[in-house]
Amino acid sequence: VRARAGEDWRRVPELLCVEDYRRLARRRLPRVAVDFIDGGADSEVTLRRNVEAFERLSLRPRHLVDVSSRSLETTVLGERVGLPVLIAPTGMSRVAGRGGDVAGARAAAAHGAVFVLSTMSSDSIEDVRAAATGSLWFQLYLWAERSILERLLDRARAAGCRALVVTVDVPVIGNRRRDARNGFALPPRVRWRTAADLLSHPRWLAHAPSAVGAAHFLDDAGVRPSGTMEHARLVNRLLANPGSSWRDLTWLRDRWDGPLLLKGTLTAEDARLAVECGVDGIVVSNHGGRQLDGAPASIDALAEVAEAVGDQVELLVDGGVRHGTDVIKARALGARAVLVGRPWLYGLAAGGEAGVAGVLEILRTEIDRALALLGRPRFDDVDASVLGKPTTTIIPGTT
Ligand SMILES: Cc1cc2nc3c(=O)[nH]c(=O)nc-3n(C[C@H](O)[C@H](O)[C@H](O)COP(=O)(O)O)c2cc1C
Repeated sequence: VRARAGEDWRRVPELLCVEDYRRLARRRLPRVAVDFIDGGADSEVTLRRNVEAFERLSLRPRHLVDVSSRSLETTVLGERVGLPVLIAPTGMSRVAGRGGDVAGARAAAAHGAVFVLSTMSSDSIEDVRAAATGSLWFQLYLWAERSILERLLDRARAAGCRALVVTVDVPVIGNRRRDARNGFALPPRVRWRTAADLLSHPRWLAHAPSAVGAAHFLDDAGVRPSGTMEHARLVNRLLANPGSSWRDLTWLRDRWDGPLLLKGTLTAEDARLAVECGVDGIVVSNHGGRQLDGAPASIDALAEVAEAVGDQVELLVDGGVRHGTDVIKARALGARAVLVGRPWLYGLAAGGEAGVAGVLEILRTEIDRALALLGRPRFDDVDASVLGKPTTTIIPGTT
């Protein structure tokens, strides 16, 4: 990471955990990019909850178990994966770094991890497929224009995307105040403060406008926007679809033979409806705290969903995973594996493909060490018995 970044090594912190990558990413990126990645909706209560909820869970180690040989392998929807961490779909990844989705997919492939490409990706499905040999899944929004969805499905199929992840928590776009304050919108609203910040990051500025503007799915809209305003109007019209319903999911189920997952479910009621619609898996998620502020932490919602449908479909979870132990806690609560959103973008910002690989390596090492310390040599053997009682914060003077 250091060599690629071409930075004086004395000024680069040692990269020992995901938070170290976050710190380096914040140094490399202008404020507008940091806020786009790190920000959440409204007062960011759910954003904070995602991380805090993992911290509250405690672990129960068993000792004098032979842990000399360990395995992180597992299966996700029948697919063998080398790492129980998938890369979450994140739109406009080139805002974080010029390697974009191609760099992320290559790093994931090197770790035997699945890369989930966003509908709003910076790089096209075809470019990512051509550059990376690993397992590729595609994320889709239930937009109103079905002709666009059909064309995207064809492209995902042709590129060999194994599973389809349908994100359902964006009927309207969450209120991200940081973006609004920075004028990060389509079309951009230039603020002096933001402009000065951007000019002090010339390397980022050289590639980023194309990242923000790149919307390869527009090829499928059958429209060639003639300018920024038309482009912006089109993207904004497509992005949110307040009229989408379970009928749309049934429509999609009929058109996609492979594994279908719903992403964004937080309740037992929705999980049951999803199963009735024939989904194969559910990603319990609150969109990284970027949509409904006040929604529960994803890891807290996982228990409710697992109780309702955990024996019928596979569950995944994302939101706030920052440590190897978080991955183990998620597995103990019923998830096959987790997805990480911001962590891979920190890696991308810090050092391109090598940075993403570095973040995945840290998670791999942390999971491996935790399995040894817990006395559970195989990730597949992790179950609810690794969890202790949630810890509570003791307020001084109340005991
Ligand atoms: C910058 C950014 C862009 C995102 N774009 C998408 C997207 O296009 N589609 C989607 O389903 N989720 C999107 N998400 C949500 C992630 O897939 C994931 O649910 C979330 O980041 C998980 O939380 P974490 O960042 O704490 O790991 C995005 C998240 C971030 C941070």
